[in-house]
Amino acid sequence: MKEYLDIALEAGTKAGEIIRENFHKKKLIDYKGRINLVTNVDREAEKVVIETIQSYYPKHNILTEETEHKQNPDQEYCWVIDPVDGTTNYVHGFPFVCVSIALQKNNESIVGVVYNPILNELFFAEKGRCCVRNDEDIHVSNNPDFSKSLLATGFPYDMLNDERNNIQYFSKMIKKCRGIRRPGAAAIDICYVACGIFDGYWELELYPWDTAAGIVILEEAGGKVSKFDGSEFSIFDKEIVVTNGHIHEEFLRVLR
Ligand code: IPD
Ligand code: CA
Ligand code: CA
Repeated sequence: MKEYLDIALEAGTKAGEIIRENFHKKKLIDYKGRINLVTNVDREAEKVVIETIQSYYPKHNILTEETEHKQNPDQEYCWVIDPVDGTTNYVHGFPFVCVSIALQKNNESIVGVVYNPILNELFFAEKGRCCVRNDEDIHVSNNPDFSKSLLATGFPYDMLNDERNNIQYFSKMIKKCRGIRRPGAAAIDICYVACGIFDGYWELELYPWDTAAGIVILEEAGGKVSKFDGSEFSIFDKEIVVTNGHIHEEFLRVLR
């Protein structure tokens, strides 16, 4: 039987091919909300990821963005999948998109694959074993100075009705750091902290599939993840802070 990481890489590569082939083609778009899009490619990529995983482990649980799957409470393994993270980018041809696949065992992420087939950037890690981007080992930045940090964030789709729409946090943070980017794909944002491009990242109202793979990669690359109050983060939480570890306390202080 293939190793779990190899299965995630196989599924990610197949989904990546679909994402790449369709990047310049016209997509069929449905609306899940005012600005929350889903395309035919999200659905096709999801199908191929699930089929690949189930060809090896038909009984493992599946938690994925575009289709609902019944969860077996006695099953210790669960694959957490975002077939296209960055769908808005994808629709507009902004090349910041990825497929994100994690495997959790008893609610702990043990494998993570994040693959951007447009920029050809593949991040993967296995708990306690490796953390690689393409063929290079990666590590978080060693910047200890919050005022010199480059951060990333994102805003929830339900901007208009959600009081915690992140504008209040954004306006505090932008005055204290070097700059903030809003790339539009949470899984890549987290991987960019893992490889030292960003020093930190925060967001609200995310779902398990946005963060599950990225945080394995981040932690194996020496980074730190928590909630806004510094307590332990679970992929079901609605707020996340990710940093290089060195600026974590200052980051939380400014957020509060
Ligand atoms: C979205 C992206 C975006 C984040 C949104 C997510 P989707 O995922 O990760 O960066 O700000 O909150 O929902 O919808 O493109 O899979
Ligand atoms: Ca997503
Ligand atoms: Ca998605």
